Amino acid sequence: MRLLELKASNFTSYRDLSLPLGSGVVVVVGDNGSGKSSLFDMIYFALTGHSLRKLPLSEIIRKDQDRISVKLSFEHNGKIYTINRGRKKSRSFLDISIDNEEIKGDIKEKQEIINEIIDEELLNLAVIHSGKSRTFFDLSDREQKDLVVRLFSPDFIDISKFSRIAEQKKKELIRERDRKDGTIQYLKKEMEEMNKSMELYKDYSDYSLKELLDIEKEIDHTIDELTKSKNKKTEEFRKIENSLFTLKGEIRQISNELNKFKKLSKNKLCPICGAPLDKKHIDKEVAKLNKRLEDKNIQLKTLKKDRNRLEDEIDKIDSVIEENNENLSITKKLIDIVQKRDATEREIKNKNGEIRRLEKEIKGLNRDIEIYDTIRSFFSSDGLINGLFKKILPLFISKVEKFLSIFGNINLYYENNWIVSFDNNRLHVKSLSTGQRRIIELCVILAINEILKDTKNIDFLILDELIDPLDDNNITNVNNAIRMSKVDTVFIVTHRADDIDYDDKIEVVLVQGESEIK
Ligand SMILES: Nc1ncnc2c1ncn2[C@@H]1O[C@H](COP(=O)(O)OP(=O)(O)O)[C@@H](O)[C@H]1O
Ligand SMILES: [Mg+2]
Repeated sequence: MRLLELKASNFTSYRDLSLPLGSGVVVVVGDNGSGKSSLFDMIYFALTGHSLRKLPLSEIIRKDQDRISVKLSFEHNGKIYTINRGRKKSRSFLDISIDNEEIKGDIKEKQEIINEIIDEELLNLAVIHSGKSRTFFDLSDREQKDLVVRLFSPDFIDISKFSRIAEQKKKELIRERDRKDGTIQYLKKEMEEMNKSMELYKDYSDYSLKELLDIEKEIDHTIDELTKSKNKKTEEFRKIENSLFTLKGEIRQISNELNKFKKLSKNKLCPICGAPLDKKHIDKEVAKLNKRLEDKNIQLKTLKKDRNRLEDEIDKIDSVIEENNENLSITKKLIDIVQKRDATEREIKNKNGEIRRLEKEIKGLNRDIEIYDTIRSFFSSDGLINGLFKKILPLFISKVEKFLSIFGNINLYYENNWIVSFDNNRLHVKSLSTGQRRIIELCVILAINEILKDTKNIDFLILDELIDPLDDNNITNVNNAIRMSKVDTVFIVTHRADDIDYDDKIEVVLVQGESEIK
């Protein structure tokens, strides 16, 4: 990637900027606050949509303006790219053309095209600000390892992505497992409840539904039979009652006749046979009537006895029926209880089955969780990355040390922390002086750029007030190191341009609050 031209309007102190960008070593000079750093903010903004200084767009837009734009063109792989990014009428826009051909799509899709060429993380490393930017040593241990491994992996696979995906998947599975576990706990509580209600059925454990149903049928049958025989006897009873009624009538009639006879005087004719009545005849007829009456009374007595017997029998049947009805209602109650008991038992069995099924599923999930955990740790810094990093480390260090050697007897070590030795005097990176640290950072950046030369190459460096704290000797070394590196363009923002062996110079001045290029 080789920068060609930068244009901007309403970017911080710039109203209008049009700046051709040369290659080689380019010094940028100007007073404090003249607008030097803003130039690199523009480049960064054009490429990423973000501010290098992490400022919101509202603070970058030139005061009292409502639109901003930056246009950056560069050459990459023989093609000319032009990026035009900004905001107007409160809307962000991004236009990209490649060899004058406009790219279609939304901002996200177009950004993807830029990301194919540059890498925001590496771009960050390509800019060394005085204490403001995040340099290699400001990254976390994990980020450093990821970066080093990625530098050397040919197609730039983001290995840590696998770890993240596995972690994500593992979390999902854990959530699913916990959900299932919750269901089991709920089912177990329900089972407890059901087991308690089974206690209520304990006294009925000897009863079987089939037996009870058989008994019910039998009782039903008995009641049926009894009712039938009762009906028969009732019929008989009614008949006897009728006979009794008739008999009583007959007896009454005979008695009447008898009374009439007794009142009859002699010498009259017999009302029965018409013969002349005399004492003998009357006595004979009375005796006959008495005999008939007697017979009827005997009959009456027998019938009454029969009726009473039947009445007793019917009463007895009634009490047996009642007894059977009582038994039937007890049996029905038992059937109801036993049915409920059996249903509960069945439900307990079902729930048990469900719990077993869930437990089996949880077992499977636990196995999968373990697998994803293995994948996660394999691709995490404890796993693959760590292993790859260890393998790559000597090569990486030797590339950095190649540049460090220009500055003297300086060596770099990684022992879970970065250690630098100056003339065999070992120091933790964090305890280096500002000047020493800038030297190490510069060499790391030059090494990274060289490693990326043939792949993902940003190919420009911005050293913003980096060299100003260095002594004369080291400024010469910086000149040498930069010349030795194969970076296409190095921008050096400095107040010591005279000490730099530069190819081009950009001079920035602030005129009435507006930045201009001299
Ligand atoms: N939104 C803005 N509108 C106008 N001027 C701004 C805005 N933001 C920053 N500035 C001014 O822009 C100037 C350029 O800053 P900077 O590029 O950091 O200067 P340098 O790096 O040369 O010291 C500063 O004077 C600053 O006050
Ligand atoms: Mg500055």
